[in-house]
Amino acid sequence: MTIQTIGVIGAGQMGNGIAHVFALSGFNVVMQDISAEFTAKGLATIGKNLQRGVDKGKMAAAEKDAVLSRIRTTTNLEDFKEVDFAVEAATEKWEIKKQLFETLDRVCKAGAILASNTSSISITKLAAVTKRPEAIIGMHFMNPVPVMQLIEIIRGLATSDGTFAAVMELSAKLGKTPLACNDSPGFISNRVLLPMINEAIYALYEGVAGVESIDGIMKLGMNHPMGPLTLADFIGLDTCLFILNVLHEGLGDPKYRPCPLLKKLVDAGWYGKKSGRGFYDYSGEKPVPAV
Ligand code: CAA
Repeated sequence: MTIQTIGVIGAGQMGNGIAHVFALSGFNVVMQDISAEFTAKGLATIGKNLQRGVDKGKMAAAEKDAVLSRIRTTTNLEDFKEVDFAVEAATEKWEIKKQLFETLDRVCKAGAILASNTSSISITKLAAVTKRPEAIIGMHFMNPVPVMQLIEIIRGLATSDGTFAAVMELSAKLGKTPLACNDSPGFISNRVLLPMINEAIYALYEGVAGVESIDGIMKLGMNHPMGPLTLADFIGLDTCLFILNVLHEGLGDPKYRPCPLLKKLVDAGWYGKKSGRGFYDYSGEKPVPAV
C-alpha cells in the first residue's frame, strides 16, 4: 500500500510533534484528540514550532502555511477510515490504548499498519487485542520530535518482516534514523535512561549533592545536553515514575525501584516543566532548584 495519509492519535506534546514531522515531509495528516480544544492547542503548537524555522530564515512563511494546510484535525476516530498508516500517541494507560487499538483495527483499512508511540507498554500485548497482530509495531519518537534524530522501532512478537521494512522506510522518509529492538519492558531507550535518572534522584535524596551540581556534573562532564534532573522535569515526573514501575514490575529486579523522592514529588502534583514545578521551579525567567 502506498502510504500518503497518516492518522495521528493525540495532539499533545508527542502527538503534535509526530503530526508536525509527517506534514513537513509532505504527508497528509489527520490529527485526532478527544476535544476540539486539544486539537486546536496541538495545531497552534505546530504553528509556533514551525515559526522558529521561519524566524531563523530556514523556512519560507509560505512553506509553513503549506505544512499546516496538510494537517486536518478531528475528534472522531471514524475519520481514520481514510488513513494508510496510524500512529497512536495517547496517554500511557493500558485501558485507553487497548480501546484505541480495538477501534483502530475496526476502522482502518485492511493492510494499514498501526503503530504506537508508547514508551513502555508492550507492543505484543497491544497487537493481541487486534485481528492484525502482524501489522502492529512500536514507533517511539523522542521529545522534542521535530529536533530529535532517533525513532526507536519496536518489533512485537507477531510483527511481520513486511511491517518492519515499511516502518523503517517511512522513518527514513521523515529524515530520521530508525533503530530497532525487540519488545521488552522499557525497550532500549528507557531501560537505559530511566535507571540513570533514578540514580540521580537517589543521589539528591541521600544528600550526595544538590540539584544544580548533579545536573552540572552530568551535563558538563558527560556532554549531555541536559542534566538528568532537568531531563526528568522535561519528560514529566509522572511519566518517569510510570516507566520505572513498568521496568520494576516487568523485569522483577529491585535495581529498578523508583526513588521515594520521585514518588513524593508526583504525589505533590509536581510533575516537572508541564506543571510549572518539579526539581526546578519554572515560574520565573530562569528555572531555579525547587527541591
Ligand atoms: N520544535 C521545533 N524545534 C525545536 C523545538 C521544538 N519543540 N525545541 C527546540 N527546537 C529547536 C530550536 O529552534 C533550535 O533550532 P536551531 O538549531 O535551528 O536554532 C534547536 O532546536 C535547539 O534548541 P534551543 O537552542 O532552544 O535549545 P537547546 O540547544 O538547549 O536544545 C533541546 C534544546 C533540543 C531540547 C536539548 O536540550 C536536548 O537535546 N535535550 C535532551 C532531549 C532528550 O533527551 N530527549 C529525549 C527525552 S526521552 C523521550 O523522549 C522518550 C521517552 O520515552 C521518555
